[in-house]
Order: sequence, then structure tokens, then C-alpha cells
Amino acid sequence: MEKQGKRRRRVVLVPAPFQGHINPMLQLGSILHSNGFSITVVHAQYNSPNPSIHPDFSFLPLPDTSSDHNILAGDLIAFVLQLNTNCKARLQECFAQVMRQQGPDDGIACVVHDEIMYFSEAAAKDLKLPSIVLRTASAATFLARNALINLKAEGHIPFPESRSLDSVPELIPIRFKDLPLPIFGKLEDTLQLVSKVANIRTSLAIIYNTIDCLENSSLAKLQQQCQVPSFPIGPMHSFAPASSTSLLEEDNSCLAWLDQQSCNSVIYVSLGSIAFMDVKQVVEMAWGLVNSQQPFLWVVRPGSIRGAEWIEILSKNLKESISERGYIVKWAPQKEVLAHSAVGGFLSHCGWNSTLESICEGVPMICRPSFEDQRVNARYVSHVWNVGLELESELERGEIERVVRRLMVDEEGKDMRKRGKNLKERIELCIKEGGSSNNSLNKLIEMIVSI
Ligand code: UDX
Repeated sequence: MEKQGKRRRRVVLVPAPFQGHINPMLQLGSILHSNGFSITVVHAQYNSPNPSIHPDFSFLPLPDTSSDHNILAGDLIAFVLQLNTNCKARLQECFAQVMRQQGPDDGIACVVHDEIMYFSEAAAKDLKLPSIVLRTASAATFLARNALINLKAEGHIPFPESRSLDSVPELIPIRFKDLPLPIFGKLEDTLQLVSKVANIRTSLAIIYNTIDCLENSSLAKLQQQCQVPSFPIGPMHSFAPASSTSLLEEDNSCLAWLDQQSCNSVIYVSLGSIAFMDVKQVVEMAWGLVNSQQPFLWVVRPGSIRGAEWIEILSKNLKESISERGYIVKWAPQKEVLAHSAVGGFLSHCGWNSTLESICEGVPMICRPSFEDQRVNARYVSHVWNVGLELESELERGEIERVVRRLMVDEEGKDMRKRGKNLKERIELCIKEGGSSNNSLNKLIEMIVSI
């Protein structure tokens, strides 16, 4: 894909304002930029990306909704619905501004928007701009979200506790408890978002950050339901030139600590950018990790422990025990961590980016999902790809110690590591020239060039 001046056109990206959504969108921007496109990012002011890390992109802000009480109350779905309602006019101003500034070979080729920023489709259409949807979650999640609408209509959700372990017939191996339902906020809001997102009206295509060899059958089902072409081009972090898309500062000192640990010995622990824990759960997690007698690298995001700033709530005794075996950081360079030879397992919340990053490095997982798509991903990791164990009980030190040793020490874990390595090799084939993701990416670029 050679770069040519006349192909140098502009793509306007509209990411959703969460780390797990910003990462794949900015990775897509880097991929398109390295293929000759200019990039403008129109972003919310809440969680806004740092322009200095992306000097090749232009950035335009949407109205400030960061004081919105829904974020403070943890109701992200209500916040997203509000963004969609409040920001259309400003988004159109941003598009118009870019159009006014465009040079002869720098016109807007298309708008690529996160699926949950669905107001972008209508805003683009009004200005006769082509648009493409980016789905940042797994294909299986999208099927499960769509199923929610029928399950609700048929009276199956909300479901009683007695049904939580029953399989959802059309979604096997997903059980009722794995459905992508909110833990905060209203079911009605989730269903409203799901139906808005499912309803593609004028977009030309859908991009998925997933891989054919992982989600072949889910992608085939989605393609049957959809009139426009799909481009599964994951894992996008493997195609994007290496650069950080973190909103928080990465603490690289953990890489030097990892250098001192032996191969496959370290369990990496991170519950992502949104999940919270209670003080009691953090203390149980800490003792479980210490008692497992495995070295551990643990990301404790500032503000992620309810009622605490950071780890000041841990006792002196516990902190001393942690420092003998473990290393705690506020935010890690996660992709480098997972690629480090010392890391042999990942205790994760199973956000889709973390899941892909772990699988791509052949690192088996302990799945501790909290909400929404994380439960679907956890189920696929543990019951479809067989590269992880589910930690389903309450967070309790004995359980944590046992599951860490099962993954890091026992035969069961060694088998998983072998399967993980095998899956990693299959994914590498999808990325290489002639592989499914590589082909999809080429076709996507051809499509955008031909607009
Ligand atoms: C959110 C939702 O929780 C998740 O269910 C959905 O799939 C995406 O949005 P998040 O908690 O941000 O996800 O998790 P994830 O999708 O895994 O994204 C987190 C990103 O932050 C990953 O790309 C990871 O590499 C990065 N990260 C995480 C760091 O760079 N450093 C860290 O210390 C932790």
C-alpha cells in the first residue's frame, strides 16, 4: 500500500470518551495515517486524548459534558445517551470547520465513529459525508447485546437468580449471568443504546476490532443480519505503529522490575480503566496474591478503590508482604508488560482490549469480569478459546491464592499456556500478508480511497 499524494485525504474520527474505546480508534487513526490519510479527531472533553502524543493528528473538542452528574454517579450509559443528544450541532460545526479548511487533496473522505457515538451518523449524513462505524467490542458481544431486545420482549430479563446459570439458547456458551447487562443504571437505557447502535441507517461499512480466527461464526451471523460490508481488522494494536494511547501516565519502572523475574513466573493483575473495588476486596486480593507465592505486578488505578485515594488503606504489614513479592503501579504500559517473557498469566477484568492484547501475546488469563461485555469475553476466553480460568466466587484470599496457583504452577495452567501459544501463532497468520485481518484492512483502505 504505497503512499501517494493524490490519495492523501482526510478521515475524521469520532471516538467514545473511554480508554477502552479511545485506544482502538486512535490505533485506527495511526493505521490510516501510515497509509497516507490525514486524521482529525473530534473528541469529548471528558477523557480527552492528549494531542501532544499524536502530533500528526488534528483535534477538535465537543462541548464540555464532564460535569454531568451521570458520570459522577457511575452511570456511563446515561452519560453516553446524553452525549448523543447534546452534541450533534457541535459535531456538525466541527465537520463544517474541517470542510472549510480543506485543501485540494485533503477533503474529508469519510467519518469513522464509535458505534456508541451514533449521533455522528446523522450529523455526517446531513452534510453529505460518508460514514463508517467502528465496533470496539467483540462480535460475540454485539450478538449478545442484540439478543437482549428479544429476551426483554419475551419476558426473560430481568431474570431470577435461579436462571443465572442457564444457557441462553441462541447464545451458547453464554449463560443468563453473562449477558451484557448494566450493574449500575437502568435496563431501559441499555436497551435504548443497544437498539440505536444496532440500527445502521446510512453508514457504508462496519469495522470490527476482532479477528476471523477467533470469532468466525459470530462474524458470519452478524454479516447475515447486515446489509453493509464488515471489515474485521483486529487486533488493531498489532497493525498500528507503536505509540501510547493512554489517558494516564504509564509507569515504565515495572518493566525493569519484570526484567529481574524469571520466565513465565509473574501474574499481571489489572481490572482496566473503569472498574472499582471495595477496600475489603482489595485487601483480599492483596493477601491472595501474596499467599500464592508467585511474583505479581498489580495495577491499582488511582481512585479505583472506593473511599480511598490509592493504596494508603493497606496496613503496614500487608504493604511489607507485598513488597517482598510484588510490584504495584498506578498505570502500566500494558502491551509491553504482556509481551514481556516474565509474564505468565493475566488476572483481568476482560475488557475487550485487554482480552485481545493478552491472547495476542499467548498469555493465559484469570477472568474476573465486572460488567457489560466483560462477562461475554470472559466466557469466550474460558469456554471457547480455553485459554483462561473464571474466578466467579466472591473475591476471597483463599480463592485467589488457589486460582493463581492453578494458572501459574499447575499442569492445568501449563496446558493453557500451550493453547495460548498456539492461538497466538494462528493470530499472527491473520495479521501477516495474505491473512484475514491483513486482507480486510487492505480492502477497507481501498474502499475509503474509492469514496
Ligand atoms: C471498557 C469496558 O470496561 C470494557 O468492557 C469494554 O470492552 C471497553 O471499555 P476498559 O476497562 O477500559 O474497558 O478495558 P479494556 O477494553 O481492556 O481497555 C483498557 C486499555 O487500557 C487496554 O488497551 C490496556 O492496554 C490499557 N491499559 C490498562 C494500560 O495501558 N495500562 C494499564 O495499566 C491498564
